[in-house]
Amino acid sequence: MILTDEEKGILDGKNGEADRLAMELLVGVGESFGAKKLISISSAHILAHFGSLHQAGIDFLEKLAENGGKCKVPTTVDPSSVDFERWEKFKIPKDYMEKQKRLRTAVEQLGVIPSWSCTPYQAYNVPRFGQNIAWAESSAVAYANSVIGARTNRTCFGLDISAAIIGKIPEFGLYLDENRIGSLLFELKIDKFSDLDYHTIGAIVGKRSGAKIPVIKGIPKDVTNDQLKCLGSAAASAGAVALFHILDVTPEAKLKDPFDGKKPEEVITITQKDLRDMENMISNAEPNSRVEMVTLGCPLLSVEELKTIFDKMKGRKVKKDIYFWIYLTKETYDLGKKLGLITPLEKAGVWFSTQTCATISPVKIWGFSHIMTNSAKCALVTPSEHNLKVSYRDTNECIVTATEPL
Ligand code: F3S
Repeated sequence: MILTDEEKGILDGKNGEADRLAMELLVGVGESFGAKKLISISSAHILAHFGSLHQAGIDFLEKLAENGGKCKVPTTVDPSSVDFERWEKFKIPKDYMEKQKRLRTAVEQLGVIPSWSCTPYQAYNVPRFGQNIAWAESSAVAYANSVIGARTNRTCFGLDISAAIIGKIPEFGLYLDENRIGSLLFELKIDKFSDLDYHTIGAIVGKRSGAKIPVIKGIPKDVTNDQLKCLGSAAASAGAVALFHILDVTPEAKLKDPFDGKKPEEVITITQKDLRDMENMISNAEPNSRVEMVTLGCPLLSVEELKTIFDKMKGRKVKKDIYFWIYLTKETYDLGKKLGLITPLEKAGVWFSTQTCATISPVKIWGFSHIMTNSAKCALVTPSEHNLKVSYRDTNECIVTATEPL
């Protein structure tokens, strides 16, 4: 890689050990991916959940913090593995909580905005079209690249905080125009779209695309940001999709031909039957086995999604033999409280949890064997993380399963 004099100085330790370490990592990764140079970023989004990072993650972040590392660009953090306020209610062991607290202390020392959210683009960290950013969290990466038109790879742990500390990232992958061109065309033959369909379309697109860039035709122009969030999160977890284009909807597909004048490698049709087949494939539980926990909020809920749940819950309460857990950011929870959406639901038996989610917290402790969710990402990832079966259903069915009339 060609480095500027300033970058060479940092690599030689002129700004201290944390910057030297971060620069060493950036240059090592850049050279292994054939990057020619470092480019400036406008923001970062990093991982700091103990469930995935373990002791090695604590050691690395603490080392950077102890050596004076500080984020040079606005940097947010993905959800934690615990709810910092309700950890005892959710049976989190004390030693597990202590480990997550060490990660929290380290990221705060590093100057990270303690957002603990996988949807930073809905609040604290909103990039603009064309900006280079260095984000971790596959669902946020898919959203930032596709819906906003910002530029980031699926930045891994270590590289994320190093980029934040230096304010730069090696230029490779999706930072380059030539790597943002679509290769597969998905044509939707669907008359009416439900919220669940957006998750399921994402799952189909992700499975068929792998790491290729899909272009989707047939999504209604009035698709909501939340629906696109759900589509992207499913595509990113069913495959390795970091960028998708939607004709007439996403910005790069509006500005120019997403295939750059070439023919798609393959044209794949998605019908209503394909959606039902994928729903059945995602659900791996026996149809009549008892559901022990229903979870909503993957990705973490927006206020609009919370309102929808509130309306559907009117006149209902949670059944005695089931848990109903809803995940959202602390800010959405507080706003929901101001709007009168939270207290009635809590009185009806809903457990809210903030700054974490069922997939990345140690839900295994509860010994559930069968859960239900309306999220394709949660349904795809949780069974292997927590060794349980999952039913994948729409929000209505999740609520009807978890609750009964008052
Ligand atoms: Fe977010 Fe957790 Fe789902 S981090 S995307 S709610 S798995």
